[in-house]
Amino acid sequence: MSAIQVQGLLPLNGRIQIQGSKNGVLPLMAAALLGRGVTVLRRVPRISDVRIMADILRYLGCRVSLEKDCVTIDASALCRNQIPRTYAGKMRSSCLLLGPLLARLGEAVIAYPGGCVIGKRPIDFHIHALERLGAGFKEQNGWITAKAAAKSGRLFGTWIVFPYPSVGATENALLASVLAEGTTILLNCAMEPEIEELCRFLIKMGARIRGAGGPELVIEGKEQLEACEFDLRGDRICGGTYLAAAMTAGGDVTVSGVRPGDLREPLKAMRRMGARIQADEEKQEIRLVMEKRPEPVRLETGPYPMFPTDLQSILLAAACTANGKSRIREAVFEARFEAAKEMRQFGAGIMIEKDTVFAEGRYPLRPAVVKAPDLRGGAALVLAALAAEGESRIADSGYIKRGYEDICRDLRMLGADVREIGPGDETAAEGKRYR
Ligand code: UD1
Repeated sequence: MSAIQVQGLLPLNGRIQIQGSKNGVLPLMAAALLGRGVTVLRRVPRISDVRIMADILRYLGCRVSLEKDCVTIDASALCRNQIPRTYAGKMRSSCLLLGPLLARLGEAVIAYPGGCVIGKRPIDFHIHALERLGAGFKEQNGWITAKAAAKSGRLFGTWIVFPYPSVGATENALLASVLAEGTTILLNCAMEPEIEELCRFLIKMGARIRGAGGPELVIEGKEQLEACEFDLRGDRICGGTYLAAAMTAGGDVTVSGVRPGDLREPLKAMRRMGARIQADEEKQEIRLVMEKRPEPVRLETGPYPMFPTDLQSILLAAACTANGKSRIREAVFEARFEAAKEMRQFGAGIMIEKDTVFAEGRYPLRPAVVKAPDLRGGAALVLAALAAEGESRIADSGYIKRGYEDICRDLRMLGADVREIGPGDETAAEGKRYR
């Protein structure tokens, strides 16, 4: 496994263009199964999750090409409805294919999905929504089979109330209902910007959807959708990560190509921590200046528009350098504190009580050798290392590539000393494991 080596205590300065959205592109690639013709997606992030999704679509019979930041998908030869464990185990978003496969072929079989190990992450809301749309489910030996009950093989419109505004379940229900017979009403939907983006994409394909961006969606099913071309929005989590990096390291950083409105709560929290922030919605730019140690923060994650769970460990890294004690409550996923446990090794005082982490900041942090537990947690550890006096190493950095094109390149562009090292490239950080 590769690792990232960081020489800390260099301030960050400069401007960085943010990649297209990871959480946006995966549902759009799943949606491409629904269209006749060739789908073209632009500003696609070059990350490993996109390559895995492309492999799955190819396995299903689609023609997929990835070139620079453009993906083309031709789903006309879709011939399989089964996603084996080799693919499903690599990426949880593979369960987003249940809805479109059911809608197109009337049947879908998927090995129980994998992905980052965060909490229990069940898919019962997805299953319940698809059942309401007329699918029957069977679960056996780790396989889930879904089959449209109607003889026609088509799903039919209904109303669905989500018990919780789940991002994935809302996406799956949308992807299935756009081809269902009649009208579907979805209530208590997730309102993340990526859902609004999926609605806009489906509407461009010819779907009839009302209420995009809100908690209630009304979908008039169509028999056929047409492929289209689409430009993705910037990745709000990636933008938030580099802004938080400037908070741990100090400096003056501008992220461009990301909508400040998508980051309202994180920007509020960063301001409370003492960052000076200028946000320009029209130019899609955010500038953050941090000239002192961060102030401690209190926050709680939640469904959009609340503070995103994906930035919880990222902001915790900044809190570990703060001048006092922060309190962060994780209210979306249980057990999303693996990164917090690793951060102890940088010398920050971390205490975890049920769903809340308390962090007593320290500056500078101590260098450490740690392990990335998951995608965002791995990025958070890189951020903590930016504030450590000396050389740190983050092992298992492959996780980070699931969501960031090249975190080392990006942070280096801002002036950090960060590089990827392969197995066997052992240097000074070896052995510095603090407890
Ligand atoms: C979640 C995040 C999303 C983030 C993504 C990757 C929220 C609301 N969702 O989306 O912002 O980008 O992870 O980190 O912040 N749940 C069930 N049964 C289900 C589905 C979900 O109990 O069938 C629970 C989950 O365990 C979790 C909550 O609902 O506690 C939210 O899950 P959901 O939004 O579906 O997760 P993702 O789609 O993975």
